[in-house]
Amino acid sequence: MELIVDTYYEDIGECLGRGLCGTCHVKLIEGSLNDIITVTEKETLNQVNYFDETSRLSCQIILDEKINNLTFKIITDNK
Ligand code: FES
Repeated sequence: MELIVDTYYEDIGECLGRGLCGTCHVKLIEGSLNDIITVTEKETLNQVNYFDETSRLSCQIILDEKINNLTFKIITDNK
């Protein structure tokens, strides 16, 4: 999420990365990430627009080597 805020958007992250607001919604469009998705993240994702099985909350994805070569799409209200 910090990468997105620093690079693209400043108006996401209303809950300050607690996985509650859904403003940091992204979709994994290339690669796979075998992270455990918490109950809180699942509940929040179920409430965002355009949710599907590739959806994640970027604030819940750790910035480490596991995301090397993955491609995410930032999902806004306009898709
Ligand atoms: S910043 Fe609120 S859910 Fe990610």
